[in-house]
Amino acid sequence: MRMVLEEEKKAAALAAVKHVRDGMVLGVGSGSTVAMFIEALASRVREEEVEVLCVPTSYQSVILLASHGIPLTSLVEHPTLDLTVDGADEIDPNLNLIKGRGGALTQEKIVASSSKEMVVIADSSKLVEVLGVKMPLPIEVIPIAWKTVAKKLVRLGAKVELRYGGGKVGPVVTDNGNFILDAKFPRIDQPKTLEEKINNIPGVIENGLFVEMAKIAYIGRGKVLERKQY
Ligand code: 5RP
Repeated sequence: MRMVLEEEKKAAALAAVKHVRDGMVLGVGSGSTVAMFIEALASRVREEEVEVLCVPTSYQSVILLASHGIPLTSLVEHPTLDLTVDGADEIDPNLNLIKGRGGALTQEKIVASSSKEMVVIADSSKLVEVLGVKMPLPIEVIPIAWKTVAKKLVRLGAKVELRYGGGKVGPVVTDNGNFILDAKFPRIDQPKTLEEKINNIPGVIENGLFVEMAKIAYIGRGKVLERKQY
């Protein structure tokens, strides 16, 4: 199964790289599927001499892009991007997303929202009928506020955990120096309303609901979801 999902991610990455045109300024997301997209992008840069500038969304994407010699830029130099390609943790039939398993949701959301188009790449395990049924919703919080934010999320109906990770003791610290709360809602029927409610809690930096942001999603081998009104 794992092998099949890896192949699906690669197929999605190869489909998305066809959207790249010479001279584009790209937003580049984070995660294992995006790592495959960066490989595919590097091949096009090398073999077709396509010229692009990339705005990364994490230290992971900075390091991967730089290792291939793909030039980096920032939202200061390029506040409007042509295209962003990113992965997702859950994708619903309206192309709303949960993102942030890799902890990069805040920069990912800023970059995607600065982009004329967002293309999502994922394997088929990420498709859900309703957001929240499989994955917790990641929420980036100011460290001193994690407990008070967690209590307010419980009142909204979530089971909440402070994210811990490998490589250090204590909680995961994001690329922006914050903590991540993983909030498991039974299901998220109104993602826009929940996104706004969570972002209104003092101490919340951003949450991983990406509502009406993606234009097209390539899911595994050959499945394409497209949002009609964009
Ligand atoms: C990181 C993300 C990733 O895009 C998401 O977790 C998907 O990752 P993968 O492609 O490894 O399944 O949101 O913050």
